[in-house]
Amino acid sequence: MSVTIKSASEIEKMREAGRLLGMLHDELAELVRPGVSTKDIDLKAQEIIAGFGCKPNFLGYNGFPGAVCVSINEEVVHGIPSKKRFIEEGDIVSLDTGLIYKGYHSDAARTHACGVITPEKAKLVEVTKQSFFEGIKMAKPGNYLHDISNAIADYVEPFGYGIVRELVGHGIGTHLHEEPQIPNFRQKSKGVKLYPGMTLAIEPMINLGTADVYWLDDDWTVVTCDGLASAHYENTILITEDGCEILSLSSNG
Ligand code: MF3
Ligand code: CO
Repeated sequence: MSVTIKSASEIEKMREAGRLLGMLHDELAELVRPGVSTKDIDLKAQEIIAGFGCKPNFLGYNGFPGAVCVSINEEVVHGIPSKKRFIEEGDIVSLDTGLIYKGYHSDAARTHACGVITPEKAKLVEVTKQSFFEGIKMAKPGNYLHDISNAIADYVEPFGYGIVRELVGHGIGTHLHEEPQIPNFRQKSKGVKLYPGMTLAIEPMINLGTADVYWLDDDWTVVTCDGLASAHYENTILITEDGCEILSLSSNG
């Protein structure tokens, strides 16, 4: 399968999938409070997605047991919702989720602070989010995919953070994961050329310390090797005639 170009009617469905996901993220942000379990967040997301008349795309994906990946502090991505795991003051909490609207997928992640967090964590969260916006400045027809990757790396590297290499962004559409893969670290090759109608999930995962990660015994949760915090920020975007449109924006960013 190669990179798909979405038609006008497909783009309308991608837009709606993204818009609803932005609204979902706004509601989930309210749940990032001390004492809330990661399962509470997942169940709320499932309820909201069903209320939209949509389906969660993560639930059951390769057997993933939730609609939201909730990853706290040193957890990078793919944290499994649990009724025994509670959010605490000072945590940074990444919520990664998506939905399917009329057969079309959206995917977005936010990292939220619970109460007062350390300045180091706050900077990490801010830089991770900004790295997405730096990357998408290059997301326009005529540019190449790896211009996005390199723009993210150029922005992040001076902070001395570790850029996760094992996991990457991806094309998205009638499937959650489509071609191409979208690395967040420096690339030697140019990657595919960008054309209007491509829909992409750009998702930098940035660590306070080492870039190295490992998988917990649950086979899902990815954590940093040094135990330092990690942040994640993601949106589904559309390449337009003259740039790009962010499909999954929420009012809280
Ligand atoms: N947003 C992630 C991704 O893009 C999460 C998908 S993993 C899942 O790959 F299993 F939870 F769906
Ligand atoms: Co994704």
